Amino acid sequence: MAIFKFKKKEEAASLEKIPKHIGIVMDGNGRWAKKRLQPRVMGHKAGMDALQKVTVKASDLGVKVLTVYAFSTENWSRPDDEVNFIMNLPVEFFDTYVPELHANNVRIQVIGDTSKLPVATFDAMQRAVEKTQHNSGLILNFALNYGGRADIAGAVKAISQKVSENKLTLDDINEDLISRHLMTNSLPFLYRDPDLIIRTSGELRLSNFLIWQAAYSEFYFPSVLWPDFDEEQLVLAIAEFNRRKRRFGGL
Ligand code: FPP
Repeated sequence: MAIFKFKKKEEAASLEKIPKHIGIVMDGNGRWAKKRLQPRVMGHKAGMDALQKVTVKASDLGVKVLTVYAFSTENWSRPDDEVNFIMNLPVEFFDTYVPELHANNVRIQVIGDTSKLPVATFDAMQRAVEKTQHNSGLILNFALNYGGRADIAGAVKAISQKVSENKLTLDDINEDLISRHLMTNSLPFLYRDPDLIIRTSGELRLSNFLIWQAAYSEFYFPSVLWPDFDEEQLVLAIAEFNRRKRRFGGL
């Protein structure tokens, strides 16, 4: 466990509860690049560096799952050059970033409609998933071509199919059954739903990210742009999480 320098004693106590599953909407890459008079895609490159640092730190802190919104079902509408650049990131990610993550016992998983990804992107993610599949540490879960509504629609379809084949009855349909048909069912049972969702860059939206799973998540919206989100920012987010009183609808 890393040692942190805190200004006050109370702040040290504020990391007592570590969120088991953190979801991150890595927003602000384009603006970060624009501020530096660089092409937007350089922001995505810098965003990948930030992700690497944050993953290693989260792993040190004892976070179990980090789900990151890398590409949404709506992001295809961006200019072709930008889509191509983002789709090429997993290829670079595999060669440059995965070895360090692997050494840190990080396991890589993916949610989303991966069948629509370019072959090279799919292959690179698949190689990362396979290489790290026996790791027992933090799960870095990429939401790639992911949309929360598509996730729910897929679950409804799968459940309806089972009902029509008499494998399930209408009475079997409940919240747990639906959760078990969502893409996050690939995660360990206890960590399927995020405890904390962080969206950087000051935007106050979920943008179709884990909308079912976020029912009881705490939200944290720092104004920092994603490439500037670092280890210290993660600690601040977790400290804020510790100040929240989670009641799950109770008192
Ligand atoms: C949102 O910022 C960011 C994205 C759409 C892409 C994020 C992807 C990464 C950080 C890399 C992921 C890594 C792999 C291996 C896939 P924006 O472009 O919307 O920023 P803006 O709001 O400032 O324009």
